[in-house]
Amino acid sequence: MADPHRFVNELDEEAHQRLIGRLESRAQVPIFSELFDKYVDQIDIKSSDKILEVGCGTGVILRSLSRRPEFTGTAFGVDQCPSFISAANKFAQDEGTDGRTSFQVGDVHNLIFDSGEFDIVIAHTVISHVTDPVEVLAEMARVVRPGGMVAIFDGDYASLTYACPDHSLGQKMDNALASTTFNNPKIMRDLPRLLPEMGLELTNAWGDAVVEIGDGSYFRTFAETYAPYVKRAGLFSEQAVDIWLGEQYRAMENGTFFAACNYYTYLLRRTAVVYQTPMADK
Ligand SMILES: C[S@@+](CC[C@H](N)C(=O)[O-])C[C@H]1O[C@@H](n2cnc3c(N)ncnc32)[C@H](O)[C@@H]1O
Repeated sequence: MADPHRFVNELDEEAHQRLIGRLESRAQVPIFSELFDKYVDQIDIKSSDKILEVGCGTGVILRSLSRRPEFTGTAFGVDQCPSFISAANKFAQDEGTDGRTSFQVGDVHNLIFDSGEFDIVIAHTVISHVTDPVEVLAEMARVVRPGGMVAIFDGDYASLTYACPDHSLGQKMDNALASTTFNNPKIMRDLPRLLPEMGLELTNAWGDAVVEIGDGSYFRTFAETYAPYVKRAGLFSEQAVDIWLGEQYRAMENGTFFAACNYYTYLLRRTAVVYQTPMADK
């Protein structure tokens, strides 16, 4: 099963444009953007010179962060996809945030930055997609300075659910969407066990449910973007996926739509002792 964000460089230009549209549109949905604002309010961006976002996509959250008047530093974004980085540069220029942001292509399993270079490191809906979450967490811990902050936000996609009159089809589609879209759909449950080994001390953590009842916006574009990958994975007949999508559109039209997913935020402080990977401390 191929997570489209993990294997994004194997997709064609049309697929890239669809994913760029999805990343930009979901960031405008208030129930989702509020979750970013909620954790940024709790990290000290005012006294931060350098912030890094690993897996920045189109840079939409870094643009949002750099528009905050209290932030006077530089926000760096790294993503493996050259099309996303081109889009990030263009959007930043169009919005006039390019003086405060810097985007580059790279693999977040092997960051090019020096140890302790950043005041804050963010992973926003990325850890669920990467090939090896432990390596990425170790790299994040390496490049943040002692005393600096790490913020990890992502969904628990085993909780993703859409209502469907045929419960059996609905359950299968929920599972298929989670397994075809995310390489690590349950990773947010593992973080309390994994993080202490990284030299990252938990300072706060909480969960939020993203829920749309009646109409769908966030979950509409989610279904439209990712249902084609369920078809491609061959888990169901194309017809079954179309029946499910038809039920979602019908529910949105007549105001009976329901979809939900839990999201979790972890805020961490880097201690002096850091877990070392074989490639760490370059
Ligand atoms: C769901 S998107 C999130 C983008 C952005 N953080 C946001 O919230 O809009 C996941 C991103 O992770 C990136 N990604 C996945 N694996 C990566 C890797 N190994 N190195 C760099 N980027 C990676 C993808 O290219 C994609 O842009």
